[in-house]
Amino acid sequence: MSQPRVFSGVQPTGNLHLGNYLGAIRNWVKLQDGHECIYCVVDMHAITVWQDPADLSRATREVTASLIAAGIDPVNHILFNQSKVPAHAETAWIFNCVARMGWLNRMTQFKEKAGKDRENVSVGLYAYPNLMAADILAYKATHVPVGEDQKQHLELARDIAIKFNHDYEVEHFPLPEPLILGEATRVMSLRDGTKKMSKSDASDQSRINLTDGADDIDQKIRRAKTDPLPLPETVEELGARPEAANLLTIYAALGDEPLAKSVADFAGKQFSDFKKALTERAIAVLSPLSTEMRRLLADPGHIDRILADGAERANAIAAPILAETKRIVGFL
Ligand code: TRP
Repeated sequence: MSQPRVFSGVQPTGNLHLGNYLGAIRNWVKLQDGHECIYCVVDMHAITVWQDPADLSRATREVTASLIAAGIDPVNHILFNQSKVPAHAETAWIFNCVARMGWLNRMTQFKEKAGKDRENVSVGLYAYPNLMAADILAYKATHVPVGEDQKQHLELARDIAIKFNHDYEVEHFPLPEPLILGEATRVMSLRDGTKKMSKSDASDQSRINLTDGADDIDQKIRRAKTDPLPLPETVEELGARPEAANLLTIYAALGDEPLAKSVADFAGKQFSDFKKALTERAIAVLSPLSTEMRRLLADPGHIDRILADGAERANAIAAPILAETKRIVGFL
């Protein structure tokens, strides 16, 4: 029914870190080979929780700069911020009327984020998955690279597409497929190998930000939590050693090599030796990225023009699909 088209989104809240890079962005870059890709900085999702306006603008530019520095090609593909293309909000309203309360009530991320404060979170946080469905379906995207935490939302997008097509007796929206590339790299906190590396962790020592310079990287790896044993001889032993597992996983992913190879290379060695190699590799991969980011951020006007150009091309795809969606619904 539709040609393959990749869509994904990233929130401009705070800085991107190594977990975002190894777990998601690097896959986005690879997908550009052989697919039409649309990558969106989702500022409308960000305001489902309070964002200081100046911080939001800054984070939108920073995330855009990291994506470009990491290898997203804004010329041959599309990179833009969500609020610039009206089809997202307009399609989302229609989906608010398609999705059922019962479906949204089952969303585990909402339950986690709202916690005990359910009465006091924004309506937007609750309706967020409908907006995410609109992001994808406004372009009739067929393939969506997502992490484990977004799979349920993608499932909801499929349910919305099915119900819309069924209720209006059309075959308008394709059913988007999740794309999980290779073994997903789950990067954990440097302070606790059982917790995901996260931009919301209070300790900056828990993560390597893509903006970190060589000195920060060196210092954070040096302080990273370990255990008292030498490095394990086999991958199986990593199961009981979360910190060793995390650091070796990062080392392997940075070198684009299998975990088994990294484990074999450091079997029985001391953490101090391994950390030296890890630091070297992390700096080799990440410092060109942070240098390029700084270069891009020195000219915010240039970033704004890239986003505006991306939005124009995104709109050219989304506008006719939105017109058809509205016609199907019966809007004059
Ligand atoms: N909800 C995603 C996240 O928080 C971001 C996102 C928004 C997204 N719209 C999307 C991801 C569409 C994939 C497709 O990570």
